Amino acid sequence: MKLSEQQIREFEELGYLFLPNVFTPEEMDILNAEVPGIFAQRRDEVIREKGSDAPRSAFYVQTWNEVFGLVARHPRLVEPAMQLLGSDKLYMHQFKINAKAAFDGAVWQWHQDYATWYNDDDMPEPKAMNIALFLAEANEFNGPLMFIPRSHRKGRLEAGHDTTTTSYPLWTIDNDTITRLVNEGGIVAPKGPPGSVLLFHGNIVHASGSNLTPWSRWILYLSLNRCDNAIRRFKRPTWIANRDFTPIEMLPDDCLIQYARRRASAAE
Ligand code: SIN
Ligand code: MN
Repeated sequence: MKLSEQQIREFEELGYLFLPNVFTPEEMDILNAEVPGIFAQRRDEVIREKGSDAPRSAFYVQTWNEVFGLVARHPRLVEPAMQLLGSDKLYMHQFKINAKAAFDGAVWQWHQDYATWYNDDDMPEPKAMNIALFLAEANEFNGPLMFIPRSHRKGRLEAGHDTTTTSYPLWTIDNDTITRLVNEGGIVAPKGPPGSVLLFHGNIVHASGSNLTPWSRWILYLSLNRCDNAIRRFKRPTWIANRDFTPIEMLPDDCLIQYARRRASAAE
């Protein structure tokens, strides 16, 4: 899936691009059928909220779930990142499903992803980005992602390592800096149905609140990096900061539907 010139300009100006309904309800059903079983697994890659059994994130799922292995190579997710990062040689730096579980989903503090990629993983430049696929609806109540538009233009900001607020350590930005940035740029929270795609720059400042609703806000994140910008420090486990820098080979656009057909005929 190719972005238009106007969409590329919008991403460069604002630091994000929201595309509702990129995947069909049928494709989303194929993916979502897997999710409860993924979060139910007891393994290192599935982390729980602090002080609760609710799932927070499931990492590296593309290596241990066949269907998510397909979506990790999906052209509707990978090709726009190739355009925006200016290379057709990208690898998967991180792959995770964030649950933001009904009633229990906790915050993600204000941060830039590149701060973590730089400080923890020694990624040379902010030439990596996130492609988020909404597995569930994100609405104004269930802890949608919040962005400060244009904040990616500030470059990498000072950050402190927060290891206590949540179960996931993060390089976070102090309240005074956030206040200044929000006074300049405001806050947006793109909301939409399952199948929506949200692309965002490695340096855009973002966060999300807790989820007090009965609606889990499942989002899949592909963090794609240019192969010529591979990380140089291997402090975090490979399932959090991947050390396999093999370029992604995209699958056909209908790979999810074809997979479901193959599975149905094998079951007959
Ligand atoms: C992230 O910033 O990496 C995740 C935020 C969220 O899922 O709300
Ligand atoms: Mn982030």
